[in-house]
Amino acid sequence: MATSVSHPSEPVQLSELWRDPYPAYRYLREHDPVAWVPEAGRYLVTRFEDIMHVERHPETYLSAENPSLMTRSIGETLLRQDGAAHQRLRRAAEPPLRPRVVKEHWLPTLRRNAEDILAPLVEQGGGDLFHDVAGPFAARNLAALLGLRGVSDADMQEWSQAIIDAGGNYGEDPEIWARCARAVTDLDAAMDEVLPVLRREPDPSVISSMLHADDPLTEDEIRTNIRVFLGGGLNEPRDSMAVAAYALLTHDDQRRDVEADPALWKRVFEEAVRWISPIGMYPRRVAERTELGGRVLEAGDKLGVVIASGNRDERVFDRPDAFDIHRAETSHVAFGGGPHFCLGTWVSRAAVGQIGLPLLFRTLSGLRLTETDVPFGGWVFRGPLRLTAAWSPS
Ligand code: HEM
Repeated sequence: MATSVSHPSEPVQLSELWRDPYPAYRYLREHDPVAWVPEAGRYLVTRFEDIMHVERHPETYLSAENPSLMTRSIGETLLRQDGAAHQRLRRAAEPPLRPRVVKEHWLPTLRRNAEDILAPLVEQGGGDLFHDVAGPFAARNLAALLGLRGVSDADMQEWSQAIIDAGGNYGEDPEIWARCARAVTDLDAAMDEVLPVLRREPDPSVISSMLHADDPLTEDEIRTNIRVFLGGGLNEPRDSMAVAAYALLTHDDQRRDVEADPALWKRVFEEAVRWISPIGMYPRRVAERTELGGRVLEAGDKLGVVIASGNRDERVFDRPDAFDIHRAETSHVAFGGGPHFCLGTWVSRAAVGQIGLPLLFRTLSGLRLTETDVPFGGWVFRGPLRLTAAWSPS
């Protein structure tokens, strides 16, 4: 039976979540698992079991939000649609990202990108693994996967950040809207270059797949949906790579284990996205009166599905705050679940877990952090803000 759960005496502050959300999440899981957070204007769902319930009932917990800052800034994308309309867009986009295509087609591109980025760094003997490695690697991979040509790593990163910032522009900062509008214009120009080429000569990219699907997308639909790939396909692989590198560089025993047994690199990646989930929260809207985690919810209520908290739920994971590649329970919700389960899951596993991380540690020998008190930030998206390191120039 539904009961009203008392609120913590101090409502959760978003600035506190940005700095370090994990103590607040632990409190909420224990005392208020579907908690009203006034500053966010939504209930935060923090227990693993409740998150799975939301994901298994997409007819009750909708992805469409209206009004939505994301829709306002980049248009109606698959991420904020439900049912058949969502399925149609997803079906057109997903074939190039299937595990078999990743294995058979994308691995050499991912490897070349990693080698090209790492080789010139060797002689430098030091740098910022976040800005010099993880960011450009994620940017270059994403451009290739989408089918964009001649765009720089810097452009990709600028467009991605501009789109993300607009999606969270609750303060209505006009400069953030303007920056996103510029990013959309520039990305559209890059799409103008490739759309006619890919229409004539299909290839295994996402844009080509959208153009040539059984139920093809219009050029307008393609432009809009590629924007969500920009906003959602760059910072997560970047942050997961930086988190995983940080974790190994601060856990010598596990670093030795993985260097001795390369089969463990997969575990490093999965544990990194569980430990500090690159997407910490995503929104849902309640379709009809229901009950979740002991709380009655009304149609129209907004939720924040806090997967970063579900991934630290002590009901599921032993010593959830520890980074441990040997943990027994390995299933997590860092890629979501249900109909919007991340389309980039398999390519990220390959890019970061199979290629990027092993090559990073192999190429930059003697890798070590030069700043041990690494700053982290964010709760909707979270990762290190920089990762300065040194290595032995060969
Ligand atoms: C470590 C890497 C990544 C993580 C942790 C991650 C996480 C997620 C999560 C949690 C969702 C669900 C969001 C929701 O339900 O509202 C999602 C959706 C999505 N992701 Fe990822 N992502 C990653 C990498 C990527 C990459 C590299 C791409 C593109 C190649 C990508 C493309 C997408 C798309 C298109 C969706 C929306 C799917 C849909 O609405 O049906 N992601 N991702």
